[in-house]
Amino acid sequence: MAKTAKITLLLTGFLIFVATFVSAETGTERATFTKDIAPIFQQKCESCHRPGSIAPMSLMSYQETRPWAASIREAVANRQMPPWHIDKTVGIQEFKNDRSLSDEQIATIVNWIDDGAPGGKAEDMPPPVSWPDGETWMFAELFDEPDLIVKSTPYTMPAQAADVWYRPVIETGLTEPRWVRAIEIRPTTVKGRQVIHHALARLQQDEPGVDNTNVLGADAIGSGLFMEWAVGKQGELMRPNSGKLMLPGSSIAWDIHIHAVGEEIVAQTEMAIYFYPKGEEPKFRQNLALFHAISGVRDLDIPPNEISVHQGFHVLKSAGRIENYQPHMHLRGKAMTMEAIYPDGKREILSHVDNFQFDWHNNYVYADHVAPLLPKGTILSFTSWHDNTSANRDNPDPDQWVGWGDRTIDEMAHAWVNITYMEDEDFKVEVEKRKALEGEEATDQFQQ
Ligand code: HEC
Repeated sequence: MAKTAKITLLLTGFLIFVATFVSAETGTERATFTKDIAPIFQQKCESCHRPGSIAPMSLMSYQETRPWAASIREAVANRQMPPWHIDKTVGIQEFKNDRSLSDEQIATIVNWIDDGAPGGKAEDMPPPVSWPDGETWMFAELFDEPDLIVKSTPYTMPAQAADVWYRPVIETGLTEPRWVRAIEIRPTTVKGRQVIHHALARLQQDEPGVDNTNVLGADAIGSGLFMEWAVGKQGELMRPNSGKLMLPGSSIAWDIHIHAVGEEIVAQTEMAIYFYPKGEEPKFRQNLALFHAISGVRDLDIPPNEISVHQGFHVLKSAGRIENYQPHMHLRGKAMTMEAIYPDGKREILSHVDNFQFDWHNNYVYADHVAPLLPKGTILSFTSWHDNTSANRDNPDPDQWVGWGDRTIDEMAHAWVNITYMEDEDFKVEVEKRKALEGEEATDQFQQ
């Protein structure tokens, strides 16, 4: 044993010697926190890993980061952090809100840690990012202060209780129609995030000719769902010339799923709404809806100790632009695909989340030049996978037969998708504009 240890030591010493020699030879400098890591962390980690934000520890300084080196190595190498669960090998890869690390950034962090995680020179440290405090709204930088703030009434969740679905209806107080160009939504406190599992905000308004009975369904081309919040999501910026219409006398109907966490916490959500200036009317109306990845809620059937697959299909009744993709499942959720089946039969995977995490309901917002433009009659197909085996670490009980339901221990399988619907004429114009942006690449995608 002693001999083996000695040899190992010798060998390690030799490897360190070689490594030092090689890096000296090639002239590569050692990566340090201040020079190489802090810029990445400022860009990709600090939004959550700073005092008062949602992550358990701050990663703003070397002193705060060093004790976490081993777990950072694991989290970034496995792409657990930052939370971004899109399969990078298939589908659209450009998003407005991509917070993932590049392969190169991962290599830099991993190599830095393997090299002993040196601190580096103080003068290399980039100036600190000035983060807004909790009171500041993100889009205020773009549009000044929000035009309207709608809050749910507070709900005090006891330390122990069954899940609650809290549904206060709050009037918007609008006296004239207004077009919305951005929305932000959040729990009012960081503490509140612990108990609020997700929050839906439906826009209720009387609109001639629009049937709002199935407001959440994919068929509702009316006011429909206004906004949805879950951990990992913050806000929504409408694309140019697109918006949501709010009418006088409208109300926001909240639907807030609250669960107890062993401590009494007040749960409240708030939404900031930014209007287009009066007189500036966007041409297109954007519609957020729920698209089932099952043929109907009763069909979600997940036997014990198995991986199950379900599918749901939705025909687009008019042409449209897909703005985002936000899969929603519960603890057994494993993966979900959104695919377009074009009227000519061509199929294309738009996005695939291969590593769904119940704790992170990420909303993947497509970049302007890649947001899919789909002709009327395209079928949107959603495929969901649930892992009800013991291999799924989040699975509370692999021996249970699981079906659709609201509780966390039940399952769901849908995606929240914002679609900007348009007439065929306008669609053609949008397709032409896109071609100009993308050159030749985009052409075959939109052939009919
Ligand atoms: C969108 C918010 C967010 C971003 C961005 C983010 N994190 Fe996290 N991180 C969290 C939260 C919340 C947790 C605790 C819950 C969890 O593990 O999911 C966490 C946990 C971790 C942990 C595990 C801590 C433990 O208890 O073992 C590590 C390590 C970590 N993050 C590193 C990073 C690094 C490094 C980055 C940037 C490259 C990053 N995170 C970016 C929110 C974030």
